[in-house]
Amino acid sequence: MAGFAALPPALLGGDLFGSPVFSRAAVAYVHYLSFMLCFGALVLERRLIRPNPGKADATLMVITDVVYGMAALALLVSGILRVLYFGQGSDFYTGNPLFWWKVALYLGVGGLSLYPTVTYILWAIPLRKGELPQVSEALAARLAWILNIELVGFALIPLLATLMARGVGLPGTLAG
Ligand code: HEM
Repeated sequence: MAGFAALPPALLGGDLFGSPVFSRAAVAYVHYLSFMLCFGALVLERRLIRPNPGKADATLMVITDVVYGMAALALLVSGILRVLYFGQGSDFYTGNPLFWWKVALYLGVGGLSLYPTVTYILWAIPLRKGELPQVSEALAARLAWILNIELVGFALIPLLATLMARGVGLPGTLAG
């Protein structure tokens, strides 16, 4: 325990949100955790999608999409909190085109996911009655492609994030 006394006061001070270091770390952690959950949910959905799925798979798809939706919301909220309060100042981000590309990509992926989400909501209706959803080959293939595109989009966003966090893209920098 004596070792903790050697830590800088900012790392020790106050409760979780009383300490700037811990609150920044907590919001960053929520941002990364929700990103991992989103990506994991998309990979699982991609693995599960097939024509006329069984009850267990169809139910798992619906649950996975709910997890994905909640994680995507947490990702957005934690991202906005980082811009406004827990990052390097909002001007640092809003003045960088890479930030807006990141936001646009997030919104694009989110917009694309509306189609699978509405499809799964419609599956919940027969599932509740104990019936199986009717999923044609064409619908399964379409959903698989949408999930592929979402996965590529999600994989690109952290690249934009890491560049943006280091000021690449700001006027007067290497790529600005
Ligand atoms: C509109 C939604 C989003 C906003 C407003 C947002 C905002 C931010 C902000 C302000 C930072 C802090 C950068 C810094 O350290 O100075 C950040 C970091 C990061 N974001 Fe986001 N973000 C959003 C969506 C996403 C998404 C969808 C992903 C992943 C798919 C993501 C992945 C990351 C990563 C990996 C970092 C760490 C970058 C680094 O420190 O190297 N963000 N984000």
